[in-house]
Amino acid sequence: MGASHPAPAWTPVCGVEDIPRAGARVVKRGGADDIAVFRASDDHVFALLDRCPHKGGPLSAGLVHGHAVTCPLHGWVIGLDDGRAQAPDEGCSQRIAARVEDGTVYLDLAGHGHGCSQGQGRRPTPKLRTAQPAADDSP
Ligand code: FES
Repeated sequence: MGASHPAPAWTPVCGVEDIPRAGARVVKRGGADDIAVFRASDDHVFALLDRCPHKGGPLSAGLVHGHAVTCPLHGWVIGLDDGRAQAPDEGCSQRIAARVEDGTVYLDLAGHGHGCSQGQGRRPTPKLRTAQPAADDSP
């Protein structure tokens, strides 16, 4: 039996109907980061650490649209299925495996998140361009 990956610990956290459609609910864990559980308008359920990769804003308070959430603090858009910030921003929030069974949402609380490490977010500095005079020799 491999020891590198712990067996999933599917933990019931709430009913799907307890999460507003196109909204989120927070699952608190003692001594660990809160988890934001999202319900998209098509009823898909996703879970991310409730920390924006930019400056730690509460993603659970963001605006859910499609399979993404816009952070309430500075407007970064984070994909719900992979936790990644959409370009031009860079970084990601850890994804927690989630599944729904008989209307109950289960999270894999044994996992350590998937896809990225926290706190890596940055917005690339725009490249400055020097204004060039128009090369127009026409009269
Ligand atoms: S903390 Fe989320 S966009 Fe800045």
